Amino acid sequence: MWNLLRSTIKSTPGTVSIIPQRMNFDFKNTPKHWFDNEPVQTHLMNALSLTFPDGERFFVDSVRHFRNIATSKKQQQEISGFIGQEAMHSLEHDTFNKMLAATGYKEEAEGGQNLAQKIIAGGRKRLSHKEQLAATAALEHITAIMAQWLLSDPSVLEKIDPSVRQLWFWHAIEETEHKAVAFDLLQQVTDGDYLTRVRVMAPATWFLMLYCFVYTGAFLKKDGLHNKPLVIAKGLWQLAKPGGLFASVVPAWFQYFKPGFHPWDDDDSAEISQWRASLTEAMATLQAEAA
Ligand SMILES: [Fe+2]
Ligand SMILES: [Fe+2]
Repeated sequence: MWNLLRSTIKSTPGTVSIIPQRMNFDFKNTPKHWFDNEPVQTHLMNALSLTFPDGERFFVDSVRHFRNIATSKKQQQEISGFIGQEAMHSLEHDTFNKMLAATGYKEEAEGGQNLAQKIIAGGRKRLSHKEQLAATAALEHITAIMAQWLLSDPSVLEKIDPSVRQLWFWHAIEETEHKAVAFDLLQQVTDGDYLTRVRVMAPATWFLMLYCFVYTGAFLKKDGLHNKPLVIAKGLWQLAKPGGLFASVVPAWFQYFKPGFHPWDDDDSAEISQWRASLTEAMATLQAEAA
């Protein structure tokens, strides 16, 4: 019966390159509520950003531990690309988090990063290397489906203030490019074992949700908005309504439990080159404006 639940190893499509890129973002004049001029969604994404520097280092280490079992040159290159991309995400989000600290959210940015560090240190201590890789594959599914929400409808990207838009755009593109790297390695390490893959998903999601709940609340409190029911209700509706983050991510989250699931079942490889071209164009405009 367990054989029926195994995922196949499909790997990343040949048209997708996983190449790290240092962006050196410099965030200037970012408004307080930079996502759609709306505090709840903005602070949820701020809370997520606080988890990225240490979270992505955890992803890198969990993959690096097993990188020697890569079976082909292509897979070795994908793993190197994954490690490089996540390392760059850590650096760029560190800059973003420093911007938050410098613009009135010092305690929240520092406290949030300290808490994320503690949770991740606990994971490193308690989980075996295989379980750490499984946690990475599960969290990579979550980042990939969030990226899909951000990329698949251009109106979402337009809601992000131009001062920080390219950070989120770039990160979402790269999460899509490398969405199967940890997953495929896990399949090899565990011989496609279904239970090892799925049993970490619920606790990993739970920790992430709890963390985001606490830190979204902390940012809102700083703004004096945590006790404004109308503001909270409006933000929650934006997340839950069709096209909102939760409405998009929740059904996609369940796909991970499908026997035989693979991240590239949802093949958006054809769109990647268009997104990359838009990003290059947007970065050129930013640089011309800064010059
Ligand atoms: Fe990342
Ligand atoms: Fe990632």
